[in-house]
Amino acid sequence: MSHENGSSEATRIFVTGACEGSAQLCEALAAHPDLEVVGTAEEVRDAAGALAGGHLNVVLHATNAATLPFDEIAGIREHTRAPLIILAAGEASELLDQALDADISDVLLLPQLTENVVFAVRKAAHSGRRAQAAAIGKKGRIVTVFSPKGGTGKTVIATNLASALAKFEGKRTLLLDLDLQFGDAAIMLGLEPDKTIYDLVVAPGELDSEKLAGYIARHPAGLDILPAPLRPEDAELVTEGKLGRLLEVARESYDMIVVDTSPFFHGPMLATLDQTDDLLLVCSLDVPTVKNVRLSLQTLELLSFPTTKVQVVLNRANTKVGMKQKEVESALEQRVRFQVPSDRAVPLSVNRGNPVVLAESGADFSKAVREMAKVVATPQQEDAGKKRRFLAKA
Ligand SMILES: Nc1ncnc2c1ncn2[C@@H]1O[C@H](COP(=O)(O)OP(=O)(O)OP(=O)(O)O)[C@@H](O)[C@H]1O
Ligand SMILES: [Mg+2]
Repeated sequence: MSHENGSSEATRIFVTGACEGSAQLCEALAAHPDLEVVGTAEEVRDAAGALAGGHLNVVLHATNAATLPFDEIAGIREHTRAPLIILAAGEASELLDQALDADISDVLLLPQLTENVVFAVRKAAHSGRRAQAAAIGKKGRIVTVFSPKGGTGKTVIATNLASALAKFEGKRTLLLDLDLQFGDAAIMLGLEPDKTIYDLVVAPGELDSEKLAGYIARHPAGLDILPAPLRPEDAELVTEGKLGRLLEVARESYDMIVVDTSPFFHGPMLATLDQTDDLLLVCSLDVPTVKNVRLSLQTLELLSFPTTKVQVVLNRANTKVGMKQKEVESALEQRVRFQVPSDRAVPLSVNRGNPVVLAESGADFSKAVREMAKVVATPQQEDAGKKRRFLAKA
């Protein structure tokens, strides 16, 4: 929407929730010349219409709770991406800790001088505008996680990588589940979505960013996900054409799009490859998987997929199973780019529906995935000649 950069224009805010002292603060903010209080609503659900449309510069949410109100934040985020400030009253040390990792700009413990609150609001609005300006004209990167074998850890890596990108790299991240028949990315994130990619592609009308936003589920870590269809038979309606358009639109709305896949080179996978910036090819220390990864590399070459975009990920790299990384590398004629250790924390977190990078950031697995997130978030200089590693022709 058309908010000018000029400092003379009032900052448009909306206040949801309530806490001790929030009513008086609202009155003071409404009287302040630098701000325009567009409205207030004690319940987030009553504010849906007012929050939507991208016209707000900052949203303030007031709470008496001692912990961060994740449900309310998710409710607000369904409608607006405006910077969010939490107003809290009373004992809030846990809330402050949680806020460090959450998608919010600031926490203000009431009572506060009105001028302090106005300053925090204007500062949040300013950084929000900067982020928006930086995003215009930029295209998100697509990172596709693939393996020709089932069970190699694609979904575990995709869900944790996407979580790390959103939470630790501060990227607007979409996790797209293209394991269209049996996708389980949402379950691994502990989400039970009611809308999926199927609903999106069968909905009438042109697909654009706003429409896409209506079909995504949001994880409290600030990550968006477009889940796989709920029924396997609905998979075939996600055609190559629809998917190509979906990826284009997603690139406009997000910095990073992480794609989880099934172990096949079918139509949707080929449409995804067309737009993929980094292909993470997941391998493990067993002979059949190495053989199939080698075949995949050959197929990718036949498809003219640039070898420079392929990064081999060795999952469960530390397991002692009579095969070493060097042997994998010589069989693939390609270096392993990322090693991910086997970690007991992984199956435990899968069963709890909470990605390890979020639940146990100190776990070895988490460190490896965070490192991977750092690398894929900063695009390498595409230097075709230098590091190209050709496969030997069969
Ligand atoms: N690094 C790891 N350490 C420990 N366990 C792991 C690791 N990677 C994967 N796993 C375990 O292996 C199981 C299978 O992983 P995952 O579901 O990610 O594989 P996949 O390649 O997506 O399989 P599918 O092809 O069936 O979709 C997970 O439930 C997880 O518990
Ligand atoms: Mg999977």
